[in-house]
Amino acid sequence: MQITTEAMMQLRIASVGDAANGIRTFELRAADGAELPPFTPGAHVTVQAPNGMLRKYSLCNDPNERERYVIAVKRDPNGQGGSLSMHDEAREGMILPTSLPDNAFPLVDTRAGYIFIAGGIGITPILSMIRSFGELPPAPWKLYYFTQSPETTAFLEELSTPELRANVVIHHDCGDAAQAFDLWPVLERPSSKHIYCCGPRGLMEAVRDMGGHWNSANLHFESFAQGGAARPDDRPFTVRLAASGREFEVPVGQSILDVLRAGGCEVRASCESGTCGTCRTRLLEGVADHRDMVLMPDEMDDHIMPCVSRAKTDTIVIDL
Ligand code: FES
Repeated sequence: MQITTEAMMQLRIASVGDAANGIRTFELRAADGAELPPFTPGAHVTVQAPNGMLRKYSLCNDPNERERYVIAVKRDPNGQGGSLSMHDEAREGMILPTSLPDNAFPLVDTRAGYIFIAGGIGITPILSMIRSFGELPPAPWKLYYFTQSPETTAFLEELSTPELRANVVIHHDCGDAAQAFDLWPVLERPSSKHIYCCGPRGLMEAVRDMGGHWNSANLHFESFAQGGAARPDDRPFTVRLAASGREFEVPVGQSILDVLRAGGCEVRASCESGTCGTCRTRLLEGVADHRDMVLMPDEMDDHIMPCVSRAKTDTIVIDL
């Protein structure tokens, strides 16, 4: 879903709180207190930070709460400035332009059970799922939640209550990879449970690799990485559309999706971060530089996710 600021709701910041060191929550309400458009567990909104940047944040409150949205924002001094603006400039009472909720990480209805895996601020969409269960979860569930320390663990108190403790494993690695939690015993034996993982790229890749023998339909990932985020060795390339022969130059710092949209082309997309699968497109010529969490190894030669992936060859041809 392409977000335009004209289509945004003008929501008021009703309260600001601290969920952990460097993580702040913002409660958003309609200025007149009216009900907000409904959302489902795992949904996100795009907000316009006070500095004008558009940023996606998961809604972490219970979807049954109809009069408010709650987001949690981690301060990222090395980011592009959106989180700093939210932390330093967004204040109670201010209006925060906010999109309608969208969900690229929907909770599948199953009786088989859920395995939730969250790293750091990746807890937010999963917390909404857990909160939506209330006192009668539809299926057994277990949360594995990884952070550096208790001080940086958002919602620690809530997740440590006696009611939830049996279902929640919280592990602190002190920022040392050698102390990372070993997920292999959790994922070793595939089942019909659904795995939901949100967190840093390294965690999601580890889960994808360890879960390679699971049914891919049971693995769900959510990421808020920006599709055009540049890596040091990125270079421009050309994308050609097979149907029309039109060619577009994709510069460093922009995604194929960005460029095609700017050129007036319609491309189906949702998460725009390489996790939902909506933008899956056939790759007809050239070699892709895959950056998504969706494609399985046997699909990588002839498919590409234009919202995040780039090219290793000077030109690629895609089936659009
Ligand atoms: Fe979700 Fe590309 S839009 S994977």
